[in-house]
Amino acid sequence: MEPIRSYQEYLNHYEEAQANPTGYWDKVARDLEWFRPWKRVCTGDFSDLNIKWFEGGTTNLSSNCLDRHLKNKGKKTALIYVSNNPKEPPQKITYSELQQKVCRMASVFSNLGIKKGDVICFYMGMVPELMIGILAATRIGAIHSVVFGGFSAQSLSGRIQDCQAKLLVTNDGGYRGDKIIALKEVADEALKDCPSIQTVVVHRRTKNAVKMQDGRDLWLHDLETTATTVFPATPMEAEDPLFILYTSGSTGKPKGLLHTTAGYMVYAYHTFRNVFQMSEEDIFWCTADIGWVTGHTYLTYGPLLNGNTTVMYEGIPVYPDAGRFWQIIDQLQVTHFYTAPTAIRALQATDLSFVTKCKLDSLKVLGSVGEPINEEAWSWYNTHIGKGRCPIVDTWWQTETGGIMISPLAHVTECIPAHATHPLPGITPILVNSSGKEIMETEAEGNLCIKNPWPGMARTIWGDHDRFRKTYFETYKGLYFTGDGARRDAKGNYRITGRVDDVINVSGHRLGTAEIEDAINTHPDVVESAVVGYPHKIKGQGIYVFCICPQAPNNPEQVKKELMAAVTKVIGPIAKPDLIQFVTGLPKTRSGKIMRRILRKVAEGDLSNMGDNSTLLNPDIVDEIVKGKLS
Ligand code: WTA
Repeated sequence: MEPIRSYQEYLNHYEEAQANPTGYWDKVARDLEWFRPWKRVCTGDFSDLNIKWFEGGTTNLSSNCLDRHLKNKGKKTALIYVSNNPKEPPQKITYSELQQKVCRMASVFSNLGIKKGDVICFYMGMVPELMIGILAATRIGAIHSVVFGGFSAQSLSGRIQDCQAKLLVTNDGGYRGDKIIALKEVADEALKDCPSIQTVVVHRRTKNAVKMQDGRDLWLHDLETTATTVFPATPMEAEDPLFILYTSGSTGKPKGLLHTTAGYMVYAYHTFRNVFQMSEEDIFWCTADIGWVTGHTYLTYGPLLNGNTTVMYEGIPVYPDAGRFWQIIDQLQVTHFYTAPTAIRALQATDLSFVTKCKLDSLKVLGSVGEPINEEAWSWYNTHIGKGRCPIVDTWWQTETGGIMISPLAHVTECIPAHATHPLPGITPILVNSSGKEIMETEAEGNLCIKNPWPGMARTIWGDHDRFRKTYFETYKGLYFTGDGARRDAKGNYRITGRVDDVINVSGHRLGTAEIEDAINTHPDVVESAVVGYPHKIKGQGIYVFCICPQAPNNPEQVKKELMAAVTKVIGPIAKPDLIQFVTGLPKTRSGKIMRRILRKVAEGDLSNMGDNSTLLNPDIVDEIVKGKLS
């Protein structure tokens, strides 16, 4: 199907996909290669939750990303790899080289006895071998589960235990600015209670000393000596599991969202080409880590499915200085740059000369993802990076959705500051009020739901289909509930206002407040705690902890340090609290439920209208909490 090239075409596509969704997706799917065509485009709905796309068809994601392009684009650069170290020159890998590397890795996995349906966990830095590894997993039909390198040993082991991974692929260490993250050491700690792992493959990157456990740990470079570079892709059924990616929810442990083969592939392909509108010679750079869904869909699969050139950067935005992103854009002549508001705000806070030193004249399109972008950051991005001539696609989507759901199409539909604007073809967002009724007025505010299945949607939570149903489909019957609130203007443009559940978004990382509370509560002196988000200038949301801890008043700074350490141990440094307030009690209803509304207001510093607290079990506690408020 030709990409959408004008506003009128967008309207036509949207209408067609509404009137005849299966016909629409049938046409899109024909752009890709299938071993066997599908029999039915879509079956199932939000009540039976037995949703299947392209049933009967067989295909393979890695061969669609790579082999499909070899005839015409074998010599084209598929991946440009930029090291953390600015002195190391960027590495260009062509489609045919990438295909061979993926085959070799597939052969390594296969020689280790990994088969279709086995789970491979990746706990790595941003090295080409991570991208090669996940592509190789899909090539042999293994399910990949990438765990972000910033998670702790405990988080890693929880995820491995949940998905029962057989193989772990890791690095000796990962470079992050001037630090080396001891990934293998963390993995060793995690594996103390992961009996499902039979083998650990270690890719050497930092050359720091690591312990190799006999009979379990193997170096990738040793395994590669006996591997082949010709490895045919395994035909996969459309609904065969493709990957599991863990993400936080409002309750319980992180959920392993499962994406399946064909629907995800078709959706990644179609959304990438229409939102970003790349020309053949363009260069795409998504700054997300492959440990997050953005790194799956728009650093790896979307660009490769479309035969485009994608950039992968190992390091951080401020190393060796705050001009690194802009230097890389100039050096590689990046045309499409996709990053998170938190990075924009952090760089906006540094000296403008880091930007003005660079030309940035190769840029054509900018993107934003992961959290609502505030107008100030949008306008800085637009003025100083896009020089007022690049559209900014503010792309709203989730780990669960697999790909972009609401977004402008670059150069095709209108971009409005801080608005994700219109849904993509095939996506039917609606707003519902608190009683679950669809709001019919165009101009409205409510909870964002999606009305119909789409190919890229997650199919289940790994090992817990009931939780999948309860989390997303029971709040509002017959609808997928996103957990986000949104406003819609008179022209139907959506503006996402943020989470309406107990999930917070810290620097674009999704964290459940309950998860952080559980970590805080591991400290022996903590009686009870409550965590809420509050507006944070750089991170979007900061983490505010209210904590009952009788020992704290004697040495509050020491206890705070211990609580930080507890969170780092259980979750990882990304979940470290920003503010910890010790209290003697938490406001509770008579049935014992914590009144988070009050705590949120205190944390936000909005003390004007605290509401009626007379129904609280302990109304006096509110005064104490307000007096002790931190900022
Ligand atoms: C938020 C990241 C506003 C939202 C792709 C969502 C956004 C959560 C946007 C999913 C955006 C993502 N504008 N909010 N453009 N994009 N979000 O699963 O709250 O890591 O529910 O997926 O990020 O985060 P996740």
